Amino acid sequence: MTAQRIDGNALSQKLRAEVTSRTQVLKAKGITPGLAVILVGENPASQVYVRNKVKACQDSGLHSLLEKYAEDMTEKALLDRIESLNQDPSIHGILVQLPLPKHIDSQKVIEAISPHKDVDGFHIASAGALMTGMPGFWPCTPYGCMKMLENIGYDLKGKHAVVIGRSNIVGKPMAMMLLQKNATVTICHSATPDLKAMTLQADVIVAAVGKRNVLTADMVKPGAVVLDVGMNRNDEGKLCGDVDFDGVEKVASYITPVPGGVGPMTITMLLVNTLEAAERL
Ligand code: GUN
Repeated sequence: MTAQRIDGNALSQKLRAEVTSRTQVLKAKGITPGLAVILVGENPASQVYVRNKVKACQDSGLHSLLEKYAEDMTEKALLDRIESLNQDPSIHGILVQLPLPKHIDSQKVIEAISPHKDVDGFHIASAGALMTGMPGFWPCTPYGCMKMLENIGYDLKGKHAVVIGRSNIVGKPMAMMLLQKNATVTICHSATPDLKAMTLQADVIVAAVGKRNVLTADMVKPGAVVLDVGMNRNDEGKLCGDVDFDGVEKVASYITPVPGGVGPMTITMLLVNTLEAAERL
């Protein structure tokens, strides 16, 4: 069996076209969805990410505001800026790019964002809403994974989903979303003694560790669906995921490539969340 690839670029294009048309509807009512993106410091990867986020907003007709601050910005100054953005009616979503410089408490900064504008879905109110099935913003990367499963028409009810990784940004919210769709969910992590024994039972595997070759072909049940959230570089400096793609592709029924899989979906879901923040007003 050779797995079908789930094309994150194609699905993103479709979803972004929907964002654009829903944005036009809002604009006709005098509302332009607006996203504020805050970057503190000069982290090169973060600079690329924020640039891509702002460009995606522009391409879909959303208003965006990019604010860059020096590495030595004080925590107080950042908290004050967030508070003024919380009050700003032209801004519906606030995103503070992580990681922040060490002298700033990231959790405190995230909690300063109004849950109504928390389009990253990182606020504890958003995490609590996801856990309890209440309305709130879902973190963009796992939300994108769910959209990919929806797009291939995959019914999670009664299926066994194994999530590898337990981060607050991907692993834990991913598990909650799969659970909400009636999957039986196992979360594996660095202290799991026999990862292969777990993944071999899985109908769906989400790899979100940040390490190459965490999942190899011998660990995958034939016909499983494999979503690769990893973003790593191989020895030649080429972008690769957590999954040994060439091997796993021969066993799985569906697989997401890296690049061109989950990656583009993250920004797409940020646009969706920002649009919905504006629609909820
Ligand atoms: N840093 C890496 N990924 C993300 C993300 O999705 N949101 C924010 N705010 N920072 C990040």
